[in-house]
Amino acid sequence: MSKEYSSLLSELREKLVSCSSQHDLANIKSHYLGRKGVISNEFIKLRTASTEERKILGGKLNALKDEAQKLIASKASELSVSVDCNEKTDISLPGSNIYLGSRHPVNLTINKIIDILRNYGFETVDGFEIEDEFHNFDALNIPASHPARDMHDTFYISDDKLLRTHTSSVQIRSMLSSSPPLRIMTPGKVYRSDSDPTHSPMFHQIEGLCIDKNINFCHLKSLLSTFITELFGRDMDIRFRPSYFPFTEPSAELDIKFNGKWLEVLGCGMVHPNVLSNVKIDSKKYSGFAFGLGIERLAMLQYGITDLRMFYENDLSFLSQFKGLK
Ligand code: DAH
Repeated sequence: MSKEYSSLLSELREKLVSCSSQHDLANIKSHYLGRKGVISNEFIKLRTASTEERKILGGKLNALKDEAQKLIASKASELSVSVDCNEKTDISLPGSNIYLGSRHPVNLTINKIIDILRNYGFETVDGFEIEDEFHNFDALNIPASHPARDMHDTFYISDDKLLRTHTSSVQIRSMLSSSPPLRIMTPGKVYRSDSDPTHSPMFHQIEGLCIDKNINFCHLKSLLSTFITELFGRDMDIRFRPSYFPFTEPSAELDIKFNGKWLEVLGCGMVHPNVLSNVKIDSKKYSGFAFGLGIERLAMLQYGITDLRMFYENDLSFLSQFKGLK
């Protein structure tokens, strides 16, 4: 390499040593390697040189260009590493907070109910949120002409497909797919075309079903009485009030006394023989009880929530009150 070229290289090296930013490096690069830069200029000068000289100097000039490119590239990677390191190791920056979420009160209530019923031998079963009329109505002794169909304010998807209006439809699916003895609980979403401060078009229910030989109303009463005590963690004033559901006979509703007032919390009864025969279970051999309850209503009572809509607004200040609960 000619003297002039080697002095160019040492000048570049010096500049790179004192260069400390990508911006300065870009300037250095364009000064030496840019289209109108120092090295391009030397190539232009070569045009007037003799053929012999051009051969020798051209090779040297190319070597200079290669070396300059290498030096600049290695400085560039040195600078980018040091920038990254600075960002990663700036220990004076405040740490970022980790916000732990909380379980939703609806899930807290479902989990609590499942925990209690599991101890009584009930097994969780999932059904379908999109149902047909057979599982949601007909098999449950609610034929097309039955007035109870109107009470359900059903969302129809097609002539026969609908959003299930209650988890009782899962009873039918379970009894069709397994033979007794059966003890199942079916938590899940249900849908009704109803919306005001105390009703939501989607809410949650849990259904319990027990089918075995010699099951009678006393079993149902005793199970639900203990269930309520365990759920609220103390003895509550409760009463069974005669009621009517097409799929149970006899039917009842369970009320709990809150602040001196009776509040209905669940429906229950002995599985109607028509329902058993619809799912090919011999009602002379087997009997059973069922119950169904609305989760939101229970969660409102348990946690003192006054407006149903709070469950669905995803307001963090509401939800964070349930932190730490399981
Ligand atoms: N399916 C009823 C409803 O949605 C609740 C219910 C009542 C379920 C009585 C039952 C029962 O299993 O026995 O209102």
